[in-house]
Amino acid sequence: MNWAAGGMAEPTVLVTGATGNVGRQVVAQLLATGVRVRALTRQPDSAGLAYGGVDVRAGDLADPRGLEEALKGVDRAFLMWPLHTADAAPDVVEALRRHVDHVVFLSSGAVQDGLIPDQQRHPVGRSHAAVERLIERSGLDWTHLRPSTFASNTLWWADQIRAGDVVRGAFGAVPMALLHEADIAAVAVRALTEEDRHAKAAYTLTGPEVLTQVDQVRILGEAIGRPLRWEELSREAARQQLLADDTFPDSFVDTLLDGYAEMLDAPRPVTTTTIEDVAGRLARTFRQWAVDHVADFR
Ligand SMILES: NC(=O)c1ccc[n+]([C@@H]2O[C@H](COP(=O)([O-])OP(=O)(O)OC[C@H]3O[C@@H](n4cnc5c(N)ncnc54)[C@H](OP(=O)(O)O)[C@@H]3O)[C@@H](O)[C@H]2O)c1
Repeated sequence: MNWAAGGMAEPTVLVTGATGNVGRQVVAQLLATGVRVRALTRQPDSAGLAYGGVDVRAGDLADPRGLEEALKGVDRAFLMWPLHTADAAPDVVEALRRHVDHVVFLSSGAVQDGLIPDQQRHPVGRSHAAVERLIERSGLDWTHLRPSTFASNTLWWADQIRAGDVVRGAFGAVPMALLHEADIAAVAVRALTEEDRHAKAAYTLTGPEVLTQVDQVRILGEAIGRPLRWEELSREAARQQLLADDTFPDSFVDTLLDGYAEMLDAPRPVTTTTIEDVAGRLARTFRQWAVDHVADFR
């Protein structure tokens, strides 16, 4: 049901991962449509979400029993999955089923169609495919968003960029169709507010252009007004650098580097027009993302 066209009372939408790159944008863009927003975070006091009437609630997706209270009175949900396995997902999806009628799930472009979760090659694809399947089998209406690489991953370089003009890493030639988080959120918001159009849809989302990591560093330099260059490291040197980085989760280092190695061998990524088709505006370029985030690199 499209609540605005159907003359329904404003629904309440629960946004999980509301302090994250995408969730924060989903909250802001939902507020702009006039729906009531409830935001889930493990740390409400430091979430920075006390604006626009957002109802901020404490909750942990790893502890589904605690979600019950946050779900009372909620009509729809934006679900992201921050955990490495889908072990907690059956209970989370069951809690959602008891309260909401439509779940928009931030899945992953790593999910391969036609393969059951155990057959998925990529670990991120495996956990997200498992959550997708639970949602599909729950009887809930659903929309899956399967995004390619986020432009916000380049924030991992912020410390190096603040400290000098060189970004060191491995697999500089990996091509990616980077996405602006605002575009992912725009599709999520359409799916949450125009449900009929997007029920049982799995959307493959990409940015509008394919760029290597070397290209990304150059464009970031142009945005911040200082020439930057990429310096190629061996995989092992990049691995040690990431393991020494306190802001990067150790458990994700090998997954990331394996993913880059695969992407280097895979066919060049193909861009989709899904953002324009669903959200009605061209997907933002990486240059636009860099301009929007200049302050994060200074
Ligand atoms: N990065 C990419 O290139 C890429 C590509 C495709 C798909 N994805 C998927 O996108 C998702 C990440 O989205 P994002 O970048 O917007 O997130 P993010 O910026 O990494 O933020 C993580 C969010 O997860 C929440 N969170 C972490 N553990 C939690 C828990 N146990 N219970 C409840 N909330 C928890 C955090 O909330 P609090 O700390 O406030 O509780 C925070 O809002 C992942 O599922 C990832 O696989 C990423």
